[in-house]
Amino acid sequence: MITEEEAVNSIDEKIIKTAKDLKSYIIDKRRDFHMHPELKFEEKRTSGIVSKELISLGFDISKVADTGVIGILKGKDSRTVALRADMDALPIKEATGKSYTSKVEGKMHACGHDGHIAMLLGAARILSSIRENLNGTVKLIFQPAEEGGWGAEKVVESSLLDNIDAIFGMHLWANLPSGAIGVKPGPLMASVDSFKIHLKGKGGHAAEPEKTIDPISALVDMVNAYQKIISREVSTFEPAILSITSIDSGEAFNVIPENAYMLGTVRAVNLDVRNFIIKRMKEITKGYAKAMNCSAQFEIFAKTSPPVINDENLALFAKSVLSSLGNVVEPKMTMIGEDFSFYARKAKTLFLFLGIRNEEKGIIFPHHHPKFDIDEDVLDKGSAIYSLFAYQYLANLDLRK
Ligand code: NI
Repeated sequence: MITEEEAVNSIDEKIIKTAKDLKSYIIDKRRDFHMHPELKFEEKRTSGIVSKELISLGFDISKVADTGVIGILKGKDSRTVALRADMDALPIKEATGKSYTSKVEGKMHACGHDGHIAMLLGAARILSSIRENLNGTVKLIFQPAEEGGWGAEKVVESSLLDNIDAIFGMHLWANLPSGAIGVKPGPLMASVDSFKIHLKGKGGHAAEPEKTIDPISALVDMVNAYQKIISREVSTFEPAILSITSIDSGEAFNVIPENAYMLGTVRAVNLDVRNFIIKRMKEITKGYAKAMNCSAQFEIFAKTSPPVINDENLALFAKSVLSSLGNVVEPKMTMIGEDFSFYARKAKTLFLFLGIRNEEKGIIFPHHHPKFDIDEDVLDKGSAIYSLFAYQYLANLDLRK
């Protein structure tokens, strides 16, 4: 007779073996999605393929957030765990020269979401094969519009995400070597704010500046003043970034323009720090504009995306469960943002990184680069990670309290 622990371990082994057997299926799917990239909220082809696969495996499916899909595999207990993959591509012209290069001019899966979809479809196969052994329900979230579309926020509005105990997500990650599983308790990714500032002065002849109010000279001073919020007013132990990414004003060498504009972003992992930076930016904008006789408008023009903060217990649990796959590391925090943070409104959450950097294969380019690619040899490991997490989470009575 086998003990309960041995039974659980044998399912673990089955998951890992099934994932390996599915390797070529997962890579084929990834390449197909890679060749047919779709931008945010346009993921119709992608979600059509996902829906077909899920139905063939016995999942119930529901549409969510316009172009998203949720697959539901009902289990014998009321507990529910959700696994999430994002599906959208980017408006980038691919330059990898690979055989599976994008067939859509100017669009590319340059963040690895094609791999996420394929890994979660692999997990769908694995989980349906151990359906009898699942102590609860698994929901697979195929989310649209992660790249600046706040798709996750739209998904969490769905009642399908009510009464979920834990939501788990993963990102293929170019800052980790191939196959490394990066699990970090607590803060992992930053909040994202996008701001624009409009300064209005008084235009005139460049040779008669005394008759004008020069918005460019005010703007240059303000760019430097903003940076002092980070260097002089925020603790060095609180990660925070303020980047001005666009400056626009004037057209001629001999004309002082009327208007000047800038765009930029603020990143932080602590929302109090984020709020402080925005408050100080507004004060500095107002104060400088007054001092320089300009008028100024400061605007946060897109939704704030909160920081990704991992549940401590889930992270420790994942570290122990995933150790059977080897190479579990604690990754560095990143100031890149992720709309996965919105799922924390619904349940305990965990987001982890799976390394894809492989110098021998020339896979060295950062996310969102025209030559970005992923090491496909890790994709079956990703399917195993999703599946192990779901199976073990539902099996673990302590965690489910
Ligand atoms: Ni991404």
